[in-house]
Formats: sequence, C-alpha cells, structure tokens
Amino acid sequence: MTQLFDPPPTPDADPAGPYPASRLAITREFEVPDIHVPPSEEASPWVPWGDNAAIRHLAFDVRNNKFSNILWVKGGGRLGVHRHSGAVRGFCLEGSWRYEEYDWVATPGAYVHENPGVQHTLVCDDPNGMKTLFWMEGTLEFYDDHGALDEMMDVFWFIEHYVTYCRAHGIGVNDALFV
Ligand SMILES: [Fe+2]
Repeated sequence: MTQLFDPPPTPDADPAGPYPASRLAITREFEVPDIHVPPSEEASPWVPWGDNAAIRHLAFDVRNNKFSNILWVKGGGRLGVHRHSGAVRGFCLEGSWRYEEYDWVATPGAYVHENPGVQHTLVCDDPNGMKTLFWMEGTLEFYDDHGALDEMMDVFWFIEHYVTYCRAHGIGVNDALFV
C-alpha cells in the first residue's frame, strides 16, 4: 500500500521527549476510542423534520451541548429566522442553499461558519434540495414573523427527535452517537 506521508517517530520512542512513555500510558488508559457511524438506517436513520426535510443525527455531546447532523432539505423551501447561541460549522454536501441576509450561495464543497448571536434565514432555491453536514453548539432559536421566540432547540431536542423516531420504528438507539 502506498505510504501517504512519512510518519513521525512514535511518541514513546524517546523516554525524555515531549511525549514520554509515562504520558503515553496515561493516554492509553483514559483515551476514548474513535467512533464510526456507518451509512445505514440502523446506525442512524433519516428522521423526518416536517414534510420537506429530514435530519440524520451523527453525534450528541450532552456535556457541552454540541451536536452534529446532516440536514436534508428535499426541495425548495425556507426555514424560519433563527439565531444560534453557539458557533455552527457547516459543509455543503449536495444541492445548494443560502441565507437571505448574505449574497453567497453554499454549493457542494462550501464551508460555512456561523457565529453566535447572528440571526439569519435559510433558503433552499434548489429544486433538488440540499444536504449539509452541521456541527452545532448551544441552542438554535426560531422566531416568528413578529420577532417572538417560537422554538428553542438544544442537544436534548435533537436527542428527543432521534430517540422518539427510533422507538416508534423498532430501531435500536445507537450508543455510538452519544460522544
Ligand atoms: Fe444557522
């Protein structure tokens, strides 16, 4: 197999180095194994969100109120005005979408960083919809047309969305999603 890069010396090669064997042993004792979520319905199903969208949940971090998922908007549509209390990182996988407040359009390969406090309105003009991977922190607050808080979504909203669907459809809750 092709070697993609020359690996650095193993951390415990030098007992007096910056990562001595004692620390490597501690790391091995307390580290948390890597996680793999295969692309199957059993690992994490597409959970409907309204009539025109679905969410595939990938990670729930209840200690830090952080969560990751893929949002699938199945056709053109508009999500309400919303605000985040934490940062959001997004990577467009398919289709396209934009925020009414900006002049850019997210297309496949685009990376979006959303900052706390900013209000924006997601619009999908693409007739084929879009899929975007999001890493979200904090709460997601939706406002009605009069500026009143309509819905507040945190990590537990997303867990409820996932678990309720799994239990209703005989799908086991995947412990690997709870990081
Ligand atoms: Fe947002």
